[in-house]
Amino acid sequence: MPKLESLGIRRVESIHYYVRDIERSRRFYIGMMDCPEIGESSPELTAGGRQKSVVFQAGSCAIICSTPEGEGGRAHRYLKKHPDGIGTVAYEVEDIDKAFKLLEDRGGTPIDDIQKHVDGQGRVLRTFSIATPFGDTTFRFVERKGYEPLFPGLVPHAEPRGGKNVFGIEGVDHITSNFQTMKPALLWMEHVLGLEQLWHVQFHTDDVSTDATFLKDGRGSGLRSIVMWDPESGVKFANNEPWRPFFKASQINIFNEDHRGDGVQHVALGVRDILSAVRGMRARGVQFMPTPGTYYDMLPNRLAKLGIERLDEDVSTLKDLEILVDGEKRGEYLLQIFLKDAAGLYGSKDAGPFFYEIIQRKGSHGFGAGNFRALFESIERQQKSEGR
Ligand SMILES: [Fe+2]
Repeated sequence: MPKLESLGIRRVESIHYYVRDIERSRRFYIGMMDCPEIGESSPELTAGGRQKSVVFQAGSCAIICSTPEGEGGRAHRYLKKHPDGIGTVAYEVEDIDKAFKLLEDRGGTPIDDIQKHVDGQGRVLRTFSIATPFGDTTFRFVERKGYEPLFPGLVPHAEPRGGKNVFGIEGVDHITSNFQTMKPALLWMEHVLGLEQLWHVQFHTDDVSTDATFLKDGRGSGLRSIVMWDPESGVKFANNEPWRPFFKASQINIFNEDHRGDGVQHVALGVRDILSAVRGMRARGVQFMPTPGTYYDMLPNRLAKLGIERLDEDVSTLKDLEILVDGEKRGEYLLQIFLKDAAGLYGSKDAGPFFYEIIQRKGSHGFGAGNFRALFESIERQQKSEGR
């Protein structure tokens, strides 16, 4: 198929997170992640949209948290169906007319026509949204010719409040979504958005193929993952679906049951120095998914198999901080760690299965699939050693 014309995406500009408890969001973004709060919805916007919004800045990406004020607004409708979760992802584009025309010509489904807003100084923001196959998550496209406020009706604080981004968050590295079946979404990304496949993987833990007892027990972790990207902007979407034989037990299926549909599973935030970021976040009470010690026992072998001869970091430091390592090629690797999902952080299913990843790339363009596998295998080894 000939390469489709690019939509002219520049970057992920914001993610819009619908939450039940916005004060808890403030404690998380400001208190733990050191993301500054840069503004909030005006009383008029809050009343009109029947939702209150607060905006935090995570490097180049804004995180908008909205909570219902009364009934009938988008946050209320989303939260009636789902636990807390990502309702919109917004992309800055070079030319909104071009993006709209390309999307509509290719079968995209705009929710509205292009909306035009002019600020007090005559600067223009134009925007529209489309429906997507990502469950109830919509995409918004924004063209800003010098228009600075994130969106009309947002009142920027005179000074950013709280955080200073001491952990060096740079912005969104990738967005990962879970589907019961991902092919419709992949085809949509290819034929409507004009994205290309970057990378793919599918795996089970070793035991599934090698250990008959394991198969019989019916405990398994399997997924298929395909990454699509926009080569011009580098915006990347990782996509997962469960993989038989344990479709129902797959973590991807469990996400879908908890979220009550397809949707965004995690957003990876890139950082400049993951060691100091994770150390600092831990000191502030951020909770990460635990990594068993056995993961680090296996690490030298894994790295040797991957052809990674040396790391800039001490394995003992990585082990202390429980940071994971993965890579594909000689000398190119990435460091990553996953926060506990919101439901786990807050002990409430309503907080949702969404979570953040923190990632630092050192030449690798992968997504840490080897870590899923290594992590599951470590957990299973630990379970076996404990006689479970
Ligand atoms: Fe990821």
